[in-house]
Amino acid sequence: MDAKKLIALTGFMGSGKSRIGREISGRIGIPFYDLDEIIEREEKKRITEIFQAMGEPHFRMLEYKYLRDLIGEKRGVIALGGGAIQKAEIRDLLERHAITVYLNVPMETLVQRLKKDKNRPLLRNSDGKLLEDQQLRSRIAEILERREPLYQKADIVLGIQPGWTRNQTAHELICLLKTYAPDTIA
Ligand code: S3P
Repeated sequence: MDAKKLIALTGFMGSGKSRIGREISGRIGIPFYDLDEIIEREEKKRITEIFQAMGEPHFRMLEYKYLRDLIGEKRGVIALGGGAIQKAEIRDLLERHAITVYLNVPMETLVQRLKKDKNRPLLRNSDGKLLEDQQLRSRIAEILERREPLYQKADIVLGIQPGWTRNQTAHELICLLKTYAPDTIA
């Protein structure tokens, strides 16, 4: 079987998929793609606007559409949106064409990173306002619990320790890729 062409990073909002994705793509010397950015560019709308105007199912359909256009053809690293793996069709595409990596970040680190976030519609109230601290924690815990079994199915699960730098995380991930997917990064 041919080597899978794409390394796909998954994990909760704020887990560093784009930052780490960019870093490892530079180190390996292959292009970097960010699925959220592709959707915003192609649809000419912010993700918050897409959620507001068309709802989450429509957004998931767009994730599927743009991932399908890219996958199988291009070599590279892609940062998925944190909820992309919820859609069965997306999981199926990933299974066939990508090495998936779950960036597993402790919940408390996520809370601290997401506290002041303005761009994630799922972490806002129905009136669009940021959630209070306790509400934010409950929302993160609830979504995480639902998704965790799906994240854990990734080919590689990288447990990121508090205090790890971007360099350290990228280094650990590349070591794992060399072991589990040498053909994909060669
Ligand atoms: C989402 C995560 C976001 C973005 C959208 C929905 C999610 O991407 O796709 O707001 O359902 O977890 P990041 O994981 O890059 O924040």
